[in-house]
Amino acid sequence: MRLAAAELVDTREILPGQWLQSYHAPSLVSGARAGQFVHIRPGDYSGLILRRPFSFNTVDLQTGILTIHFRTIGRGTEWFTRLRSGDAVDMLGPLGRPFEVDPRSSDVLLIAGGLGKAGVRMLADEAIRDGRQVVMLFGAATAADVYPSSLLPDEVEYVVATDDGSLGRHGFVTELVPHYEAWADQAFACGPAPMLAALARLAIGRRQRLGVAKLGRKKGAGRQAPADSPVARRKAFLQVSMEQNMGCAVGACLGCVVMGANGQPQRVCREGPVFAAEELDWGAHW
Ligand SMILES: Cc1cc2nc3c(=O)[nH]c(=O)nc-3n(C[C@H](O)[C@H](O)[C@H](O)COP(=O)(O)OP(=O)(O)OC[C@H]3O[C@@H](n4cnc5c(N)ncnc54)[C@H](O)[C@@H]3O)c2cc1C
Ligand code: FES
Repeated sequence: MRLAAAELVDTREILPGQWLQSYHAPSLVSGARAGQFVHIRPGDYSGLILRRPFSFNTVDLQTGILTIHFRTIGRGTEWFTRLRSGDAVDMLGPLGRPFEVDPRSSDVLLIAGGLGKAGVRMLADEAIRDGRQVVMLFGAATAADVYPSSLLPDEVEYVVATDDGSLGRHGFVTELVPHYEAWADQAFACGPAPMLAALARLAIGRRQRLGVAKLGRKKGAGRQAPADSPVARRKAFLQVSMEQNMGCAVGACLGCVVMGANGQPQRVCREGPVFAAEELDWGAHW
């Protein structure tokens, strides 16, 4: 984790109320992995105390530039839209634990709801770089909120669902998943909590429906990796990236906890934001 004065190099409103910003921050870009996030401090004159968390949307190791993609929903995000090229912000990162892709997975399913797209976007780049096939399922309320395909790598098969049927399939993005669950070796998702809970339920039934073998060694062979270890997560079919309100983002304030399946609270900023779906208690009220 490093602290940097990140210089804004480009800022654009790509959809109504949705912004894509590029920052020059080489020290944060090197070593960043998909699923991790940065914590950005609004400036002194903003009147805001807490930093705001944003997923790494993309990183470019050559140029040292990272992008974030966010929706304006409150004072902090509004404040960021008023920044201009050349302005610098105080940025902390990379934070949190990344997605873990099994080396044997060749077909990767990314599932995003709304701004959850930013949570999985960088994984598309990593998976393509590593020679995997990528399908991204994206769900939005309406056509005006649909992330432009021109901002995705050409190699990604992009499938859209809208709640009102104005673009793509009519319905929730979760309804697309059964069409891809046999094809995918692993799935990675980010979006609203009810969407992630629905995906977790689908993932539980998948092995039974398809009769597929579980990735990994035979049961009982060797030592079992702890459930929250990168090794165990790598074997999970579904990993989810959680977005909770955050205070410190370094594990100190307990403002971001969700309930683990083991009955223990899990800090989204430290144990997450990425979890294997089976690590969480989806019936708990967060
Ligand atoms: C790990 C992580 C990664 C994130 N990545 C992105 C991203 O890439 N793009 C993006 O648009 N947003 C992302 N978010 C959410 C983003 O941090 C919040 O939208 C932002 O902090 C809101 O700041 P604000 O001052 O504009 O709103 P506030 O005034 O703080 O809040 C406005 C409203 O939004 C709600 N809210 C605030 N934070 C969150 C949150 N984390 N989740 C759900 N509701 C919230 C508040 O309860 C309130 O109702 C991420 C959150 C986390 C925890
Ligand atoms: S935000 Fe403080 S512990 Fe996670």
